[in-house]
Amino acid sequence: MTAVPVIHAKGLTVEFGVRRSVLTGRKAGAVQAVSNVDLTVDRGETLAVVGESGCGKSTLGRALLRSVPIAQGRLEFMGKDITELEGDALRAARHQFQMVFQDPYASLNPKMKIFETLAEPLRVHTTDSAATIRERVMDMMAAAGLAPDFASRYPHEFSGGQRQRVAIARAVILRPDFVVADEPLSALDVSLQLQILTLFRQLKSQFSLTYLFISHDLARVFGFADRIAVMYLGKIVEIGTAREIYAAPAHPYTRALIAAAPSPDPARGTERDALTLRGELPSPANPPKGCRFHTRCPLAMPVCSEVEPQMVGLGGRHAAACHLVTPG
Ligand SMILES: Nc1ncnc2c1ncn2[C@@H]1O[C@H](COP(=O)(O)OP(=O)(O)OP(=O)(O)O)[C@@H](O)[C@H]1O
Ligand code: SF4
Ligand SMILES: [Mg+2]
Repeated sequence: MTAVPVIHAKGLTVEFGVRRSVLTGRKAGAVQAVSNVDLTVDRGETLAVVGESGCGKSTLGRALLRSVPIAQGRLEFMGKDITELEGDALRAARHQFQMVFQDPYASLNPKMKIFETLAEPLRVHTTDSAATIRERVMDMMAAAGLAPDFASRYPHEFSGGQRQRVAIARAVILRPDFVVADEPLSALDVSLQLQILTLFRQLKSQFSLTYLFISHDLARVFGFADRIAVMYLGKIVEIGTAREIYAAPAHPYTRALIAAAPSPDPARGTERDALTLRGELPSPANPPKGCRFHTRCPLAMPVCSEVEPQMVGLGGRHAAACHLVTPG
């Protein structure tokens, strides 16, 4: 028997700015930020979601945590349908999900000492005694690489990297089943990025966590993620293990993202078939017909502007949606 995945989404769609015309009753002005996405996140894995700015990564992450309305599709958490969960039931489920943001300063209360910042979720969601809460907070601080005397300080007294450690500690202290980290490295310089990645890795093994890790930087997640999902204009266009995607990226968009990244491996600089991205990301309010990538794809064929490609399995856990891809 295979284990129940932490997250299972089927046909997930999120729309913003939908208005209904008074005259015709038709929907107008809708942006489908996430469009018909199927996604499974297994217990204990790190699934990275990558893609350019505006492609819907954050919206997908928030939809999986039920913090934006789901327009269509179905969402299961630990095998239970939570698509329609509301009110107290949704609030109760929430402490099993946590989010870490790009800007830790914005996600921490500036008036709260670090001890209070970490103790608050325990007070709200557990019946732990004051002594147990103190112990759990101090243990969590140690696990997050924060010195004990930081407990009585305020967020503004810390550097960006330390603040991100506090934000991560707060997200993890309730031992959530699912953590969405939304570009948690982008506000940090490169050496701090590596330290925070190491912290994510350590906490994952210590607390058996499951991550959805959002990044615009495909190169950064290769060594960190178990699987990678590549998004383009609200859709997942390729998914696979980090190894499958690194060794044999199948979708022209993924190949363009790899070619655009500075490569630590000079042999890859001359990419077997380097593809460059041209033009701007089209507006998600008016996505191109057929393959959404056809307006920028160097390999586009006439069929691409007419017929939407479906996900094709490439063997293993690898799949991509492109008319040039043949089943493996
Ligand atoms: N609350 C909102 N109201 C209206 N439109 C929104 C809202 N949030 C996101 N969008 C739109 O949905 C699309 C996807 O946005 P989203 O923030 O999910 O992308 P992203 O991939 O996270 O981008 P970035 O890398 O810049 O964070 C964009 O066109 C964005 O303008
Ligand atoms: S379906 Fe066509 S346009 Fe889309 S990625 Fe494949 S080749 Fe390019
Ligand atoms: Mg985002």
